[in-house]
Amino acid sequence: MTTTQPSPTAAGSGASASDAFRASTERRGSAGTSQERADRLLSRTLAAIHQVIREEEVSYPEFQTVKRWLMEVGEGGEWPLFLDVFFEHEVEKVAARTQRGSVGSIEGPYYLPGQRRLGSVATLPMRPDEKGARLVFSGQVRDLDGAALAGAEIDFWQADADGYYSGFAPDLPEGNLRGVIVTDDQGRFEITSVLPAPYQIPTDGPTGALIAAAGWHPWRPAHLHLMVRADGHRQITTQLYFAGGEWLGSDIASATKDELVLDPERQADGGYTAVYDFVLEPA
Ligand code: DHB
Ligand code: FE
Repeated sequence: MTTTQPSPTAAGSGASASDAFRASTERRGSAGTSQERADRLLSRTLAAIHQVIREEEVSYPEFQTVKRWLMEVGEGGEWPLFLDVFFEHEVEKVAARTQRGSVGSIEGPYYLPGQRRLGSVATLPMRPDEKGARLVFSGQVRDLDGAALAGAEIDFWQADADGYYSGFAPDLPEGNLRGVIVTDDQGRFEITSVLPAPYQIPTDGPTGALIAAAGWHPWRPAHLHLMVRADGHRQITTQLYFAGGEWLGSDIASATKDELVLDPERQADGGYTAVYDFVLEPA
């Protein structure tokens, strides 16, 4: 039996994403910045926008359209969604300049901390009739010298086979397709889940309207989200994609990297297996 799932509205996802982001900055803290640095960044940002206005001869009606749109992004709570789609990838690439070991990618707006802690061989919490092909995703967590990291945590979250995230779409059980997997004494893990579908930016809100206005598509390729952490090591936040997946070459969030593409192997029972190892650098 499958039940039809109401689509999440942009406003619903946006409001939940705003709440999740506020909670995360309280938890992780947000760094202040010096007046000098603020002056420099703000001046350069404004100068870049002023240049576009001059060179493209932006008109009053265009300016007013932008003003109205910015108001709607705020009112709809879509700032986390919008910023994570169009800006986070550049911040991540800057962070990656000083990162060794496994390659990272953006966190996006749908991480929720405090999920169920699971063993090294685990099935993610899912509905009894969870739609989608089974995926068994396994691997090992090691340090830069190749030593296994026992007790490492893989904080895992993904969309379901309709492309929706629990906690942000109505009618999905809390914690669905989320969990913290803890590696065994060989640093190994094996996670049973389902293949996620590609994710579509909600089309009924201002971010969707901006994408449509420009004639772009609103899709991200199907992906898994992970944070991998171990005592004394620098945490990585990353995503894994699927070879041959739709939108892999044109992710609206520009967050794919060649190193992050899994090549799942189809099994006789119609399910898939995929393997990926993580390497963490010292903290
Ligand atoms: C967004 C959604 C995602 O699932 C993701 O991985 C990155 C960004 C977004 O809607 O902003
Ligand atoms: Fe995502």
